[in-house]
Amino acid sequence: MALSGKKVVITGATSGIGRELAIQLSRKDCILGLTGRRNHLLEELAEELPAKTYIRQMDVSRPEQAQQQMEELVEAMGGLDIIVLNAGVSTLSREFEWESERQLIDTNVTGFCALLNTAFHHFSKQQSGHIVGISSIASLVPNPGSMGYNASKAFISNYLQGLRMRIKKNGLPIYVTDILPGYIHTPMTENNKGMFWVSTVEKATHQIVAAIEKRKFKAYITRRWFWVALLVRNIPHRFWYWIT
Ligand SMILES: NC(=O)c1ccc[n+]([C@@H]2O[C@H](COP(=O)([O-])OP(=O)(O)OC[C@H]3O[C@@H](n4cnc5c(N)ncnc54)[C@H](OP(=O)(O)O)[C@@H]3O)[C@@H](O)[C@H]2O)c1
Repeated sequence: MALSGKKVVITGATSGIGRELAIQLSRKDCILGLTGRRNHLLEELAEELPAKTYIRQMDVSRPEQAQQQMEELVEAMGGLDIIVLNAGVSTLSREFEWESERQLIDTNVTGFCALLNTAFHHFSKQQSGHIVGISSIASLVPNPGSMGYNASKAFISNYLQGLRMRIKKNGLPIYVTDILPGYIHTPMTENNKGMFWVSTVEKATHQIVAAIEKRKFKAYITRRWFWVALLVRNIPHRFWYWIT
């Protein structure tokens, strides 16, 4: 599907993957709606981009407010064809404090669902649309160091699969794409240790754009993570428990 002229909202466009997606989609003549909490970064980015860009400061961890802001953004853009639900945080569960667990769930789970819901009802009414969720390879395995993060990504992938089945059951012409990145160089991972097969954000985003164009069900980013997914899916929990 050609992306030129499509109206695309990206959540979490102030840095990393979301920012690079904005750059690459703008070069493809998409009309963009960019969101994030750091408004000055949205303003700077919008000035740099070649195509028409709308911005809206938004904290997805305040779901009802974010839904309202999303509706206003879509109205300003004159419609919506694709939403990329990218905003996310990762916290290490070292101290296992409730405040950071809650913030992670509010952002990665509640915020994700709230904006997906708004987009879904918009797409149902207009009888077209494409929902793209940024999950992670982390969705496939439990991790004692980042339980909340891995579980939030498992939630996202599972939710998107259920949604795709629901859409089919109801005969709706809406596409759903689940993106599972491995390690990518972004501010989120800059202090991570022990990473491997780390991709540049440009290369990873190029593959994400290709997956959106092809309206893929699921895409591993970069592609080689498919083989890791194949392997870890079949490893029983007892093994992970044993190596901990
Ligand atoms: N980098 C990787 O290796 C990797 C791997 C797998 C999956 N991912 C996923 O890819 C997505 C993007 O991550 P990234 O690596 O690009 O990280 P990043 O550079 O830290 O970007 C995260 C983005 O999410 C936004 N965000 C965070 N909390 C928000 C909130 N409450 N409300 C609105 N926006 C919020 C941030 O904007 P503000 O701070 O301005 O609000 C920022 O634009 C995340 O969902 C992440 O889990 C990344």
